[in-house]
Amino acid sequence: MTSKQTMRQEQSAFDNREYIKLIASRGDFIRQSLHNLEAAFALNTALDAGAGIGFFVSILEKAGLQTRALEGRAENVEEARRRYPGIQIEAGDVEDPGIADLGVFDFVLCFGLLYHLENPFRAIRNLKALTGKALLLESMCIPEMEPWAVLREEPNQVDQSLTDVALYSSEGLIVKMLCRAGFSHVYCFDKLPDHEQFCESLERKRRRTVLLATYEPVTLAGVTLLREPAAADDPWLKQNSIPVRIAILMKNFLAKTPRGRYAGVAKRWLQKFPKSGVPLRLPFGAWWIARRGRVDERLLEGNFEISELDFVGKFLQSGMTVLDVGAHHGLYTLLASKRVGRDGRPPARTPSRAWRQRERPAGQRVRALPREADSAVASRQRRNPRNLISAAPRDGEAAPREAGGHGRRSQDRRPSAGPVRSARS
Ligand SMILES: C[S@@+](CC[C@H](N)C(=O)[O-])C[C@H]1O[C@@H](n2cnc3c(N)ncnc32)[C@H](O)[C@@H]1O
Repeated sequence: MTSKQTMRQEQSAFDNREYIKLIASRGDFIRQSLHNLEAAFALNTALDAGAGIGFFVSILEKAGLQTRALEGRAENVEEARRRYPGIQIEAGDVEDPGIADLGVFDFVLCFGLLYHLENPFRAIRNLKALTGKALLLESMCIPEMEPWAVLREEPNQVDQSLTDVALYSSEGLIVKMLCRAGFSHVYCFDKLPDHEQFCESLERKRRRTVLLATYEPVTLAGVTLLREPAAADDPWLKQNSIPVRIAILMKNFLAKTPRGRYAGVAKRWLQKFPKSGVPLRLPFGAWWIARRGRVDERLLEGNFEISELDFVGKFLQSGMTVLDVGAHHGLYTLLASKRVGRDGRPPARTPSRAWRQRERPAGQRVRALPREADSAVASRQRRNPRNLISAAPRDGEAAPREAGGHGRRSQDRRPSAGPVRSARS
């Protein structure tokens, strides 16, 4: 006996009591949605894709839409024509790009089809080509927003896949595919059809969803705009048990240099206690209180302006008087303080917001000068540009600038403005 005869003589899979309940609840939902959508869009034409034996077509027609239907199984097409004489239904595979020849429809309904397909994304692209204004899509899904899919076996039945497998998508993947196919707006519904498969129960997760995809924003009550879900950054990252994670942390920690270990612990400490500071011995021997921030993070890692500090350090000699203008955090001031030694004049600097906000590192012979000092230094620098050896950043900048009077200017965006002036006392 062929399946066609089975369908006629007994009843088709579409006629069992459970299915009829599912059809009824989703039918009510389609009616209500169409009513709302017609207020937002002028809808004249419709397509029901994967129409089965055509039971939703009459709902679309009753809503005044000139309706056509597409169904993958010839026997269902025949049964639909028998049950609903006059129905405009064609046989066609929704995965076949050739179905675009059907034309463009204001409203496309695709219920109960996506999860019967081997290539749901291909189908969504085809549905997009057929949709003029709005696509209402109902599907089984894994109710998670992370975009992924699972290939499942399908029974050989008139209401199932055309092949023996189908790719079941997560809800997030369906949203992502709709976005990527070219719908600019994808909405979920606050209230889904009144059927257990649209609800979570004690034993089971929600199994189905309905989404609305459009090319322009719609202001409808009861719909929520969804953002395209992002795929996991690193799908290969293992979800290890806590002991394994601790072992990995230990291994990575021990693989670091002592300085790297200190930097790692200090950074975690500062994350946990953002208002605190951690002591850090700088390469030129001064102590620094590292706090949260990009400069201090790089100082902890030991990669902040190594060559610049070295460059400036070479000019500084014991007994010099040094002025660090626009000293920002005071890093170069400390360098100068360390280099000029006890015989030198205390390094001085103009006050900066960053400086005022942090405590003065203990033991450094540093004092703040008023901003007017800038012009005095500038005029001396004009008289003898070779004296200009370094310039510090302004408040909020990361780094001092390179020397103006010695060699080429660095690639910095702004020319050096605040010099550290050196002169023998
Ligand atoms: C579960 S029924 C859904 C029928 C109806 N739309 C509903 O929601 O109740 C799935 C229907 O999609 C049809 N179908 C399966 N794969 C298809 C494909 N690749 N292209 C078009 N129709 C397909 C099946 O023959 C079946 O009639």
